[in-house]
Order: sequence, then structure tokens, then C-alpha cells
Amino acid sequence: MALKILKTDINIGIKEPIKLLHITDTHITRDNPLDEDRTAEFDVDYKGCAEEYFFEALEYAKQNDMIVLHTGDLIDFFSKGNFDFIDKYFADVNYIYAAGNHDFCHYLGRAKEDYAYKWEKIKEIAPHIKDNLYFDSRIINGVNIVTMDDSYYFISDGQIEMLKAEVAKGYPVILAMHVPLYTKELSEAVRDVWGYYAHLANAPEEMLATYDEARRKQQTPDEATRRAAEYIQNEPAIKALITGHVHFNFESKISDTLRQYTTHGSFSGYVREITIR
Ligand SMILES: [Fe+2]
Ligand SMILES: [Fe+2]
Repeated sequence: MALKILKTDINIGIKEPIKLLHITDTHITRDNPLDEDRTAEFDVDYKGCAEEYFFEALEYAKQNDMIVLHTGDLIDFFSKGNFDFIDKYFADVNYIYAAGNHDFCHYLGRAKEDYAYKWEKIKEIAPHIKDNLYFDSRIINGVNIVTMDDSYYFISDGQIEMLKAEVAKGYPVILAMHVPLYTKELSEAVRDVWGYYAHLANAPEEMLATYDEARRKQQTPDEATRRAAEYIQNEPAIKALITGHVHFNFESKISDTLRQYTTHGSFSGYVREITIR
């Protein structure tokens, strides 16, 4: 057992540095209610590693006085065992949380995962996570860490209004979301790893052309999502974008002033130590 810790410095000129431990895509799979072995999918190194890496990461954060920034898919699906896991092992952690698509999932692939489904399912997961899963923020040492749900590939006008209200507070912003924003390089990396292009927010239509209709509909950005991406890309107060979802490590340039950091699932043993200076 050995955690693989990526190190990232974000230089924005603050007086007292902040250390975050970015953990994402833990995919806890307790119970397997439909008798499918989802556990094997995430125990990639050895049996039990997905949970052990997570515990090791939490311990590392605690020992080094870091805030855990978790960008979603903590659980793989809804089950009593998974909710109990969050309550038992995560509730007392000093964390900031952005929701992932699996955090709304009563069981993978068993429902049409659309807006209505998410807002029905959010009632079940919300009591187990202390942050607001739609939008939240916390100011630490003069840096505003904002989390926003984009787990079904969409960002709403309401979220962007809330983000603008956070920017108006005048602090530099670190934005954390589950699904990364589209960049050409990241999309090509997704293709190399997964065999399809996008699974990113704000992907251009040509990237989605080979998808079946359901997936194309799911991932074709609506107007609000395009506006949101445009705003995020051009707002100088937003200093970094921290994301997960695609299950590999990647850094991409969103604009001249904005970089996006994507971290592999913690089930693989990867976490990212972020020092904001
Ligand atoms: Fe995931
Ligand atoms: Fe995901």
C-alpha cells in the first residue's frame, strides 16, 4: 500500500499558504445490491485497495493539516453500506465536497440520469454530506474555494450567478467541479484512455457525433452551460479548476490565466497535494 501523491503549486500571491489534498472518484462499493461485482472494477491493485487508499489519504491529510477537497463519486451507488461508510469515515474529516454523478446513482445504469432524476436523488445523498451539493463556498486564508455541481455535464445560469456573487467578494477563487471543462488535449486523452472523445462539460458537438442518441443528448451542452464555460474561461479571479471524473491524471490550459487539474480516482492510489501560495 502506497499512496501516489502528485504535487501541484498554485501561485496567487497569498500571505499564508493553504494546503489541500485533492481526492476524487473513490467509488466505495459496499453491499453491491444488484449482485454485480462493482468492487472488482475499483480494487485495481489488490482486493480492498479502493478503501485502503482512501483511508491512507485521509490520514495523510490529517497528519499534514490539509483540507480534503473531494470532487465527487465518493460512492459508486446508493446503498445502506455506502451511506454508513460516509457517516462513519468521512463525516468528521475537514473536507470540501463537489458532487459527482455516482453520488446521485441509485444503481448504475438502471435509470435515465437526467435533471429530474438528480433532483429526486439528491434528497437521499444530501443528508450524508455537509456541503451544499448544488453550490457552496468557503473562504480560507483569503482564498475562496467554490464547489459547483456539473456532474451531469450541465451548469445552470443560477450557479453562474452564484459564482459571480462569490467573485464579487474580491478574493481569488479556486473552483472545484466533478466533470472537467472541455479542452482539446483533455478530450484526446479521454479518447486514448476510454475510447470515446468527450465525457467533459461543454464539449463541441463534433466530439459527440459518434455517440448514441442518449449519450449525445446527455452531453451536448445547453446554452447555459456554454455561457458558464465562457464565463469561467474569462474570469480572471478564477485561478484554478480542480476536477475528477475521467479517472486519469491530467493538466490542461483553459486560458492564459487558468489551468485545470484533473486527478485520477483515489481507488487507483492517486491523490493531489495542492499548495496555494
Ligand atoms: Fe468516477
Ligand atoms: Fe464521475
